[in-house]
Amino acid sequence: MQKIDDLIKQFLAELDYEPILTMLSKLKSGKKLRSKLLLAIAEENETSLKLCAIIELIHLASLLHDDIIDESRLRRGAKSINAEFGTKNALMLGDILYSKAFYELSQINSHFAGIISDAVVKLAMGELMDVNLTQYFNTDKEAYLKMIYHKTAVLIEASARCGAILGHLNEEAFAQYGKNLGLAFQMIDDVLDIKNDEKILGKPAMSDFKEGKSTLPYIYLYENLEEQDRAYLQTLFKKDLNENEKEWLKTQFKEQKALEKAILEAKAYAKKASQAIEKYDNNKLNDIIKAMIDREF
Ligand code: FPP
Ligand code: MG
Repeated sequence: MQKIDDLIKQFLAELDYEPILTMLSKLKSGKKLRSKLLLAIAEENETSLKLCAIIELIHLASLLHDDIIDESRLRRGAKSINAEFGTKNALMLGDILYSKAFYELSQINSHFAGIISDAVVKLAMGELMDVNLTQYFNTDKEAYLKMIYHKTAVLIEASARCGAILGHLNEEAFAQYGKNLGLAFQMIDDVLDIKNDEKILGKPAMSDFKEGKSTLPYIYLYENLEEQDRAYLQTLFKKDLNENEKEWLKTQFKEQKALEKAILEAKAYAKKASQAIEKYDNNKLNDIIKAMIDREF
């Protein structure tokens, strides 16, 4: 993964503008799920590494914009770029990372450029769906699934598809793997927001509901509650929760088994992912699924 970080740095150093590198140096390195996946499918060479760096740049750009939209002050255990340098800088850094990624992509070939640009359109639509779903307490699981497919799974699907093309493997099978892994990934993320604390997560805990996001565990909780408790749950939506309210939520999540139900759903998608590539007997890809489910942040 160090080679990918070095490539990202090299791409941005070429732009020869100091503030870009200063802000980049403040960004903590992430899990690089998309790159790990691509390199578990295709062999490591100049093109595959470049594609990884491009995909990570796009992912980083999307996180910069997402932190502005969500008004998040913390990312990967450090101050977010918008918190440290202000919204204008974070916004433009996002645009620069994103545009540089597309410039580099245009230098590879138009087939990869087509797949990735199509994914990024959907990624941005997913963020828009996420924003629009926060206008009310969403209890519609289908709307949630459609949103997380766009917001999260699409870029993971595109990474797996590009890996398959590079490795001369079945594009559709690996795209299915990426899509289902991506859906499971976001579901686990949404569970961790409730289950873990800020220290482990590297970002504020239990912030989804406050941001107006009724994720899968909240949808399941709502489904299981009696009318009176449903009404109380609705009053907590978008609220800065006090300790009593947090405790009430935690007790309800436990009693109604809403987190377990969401984890089971994530595991079902993870299984679909592993079934899609069963015949390739790729241990690395199965390990990625396991690590993604068992993670703490
Ligand atoms: C994190 O979601 C956000 C995303 C995975 C996608 C964000 C996409 C955009 C902002 C579209 C713009 C794209 C580009 C390339 C400029 P989250 O808020 O649920 O997760 P978090 O808790 O980690 O913030
Ligand atoms: Mg966010």
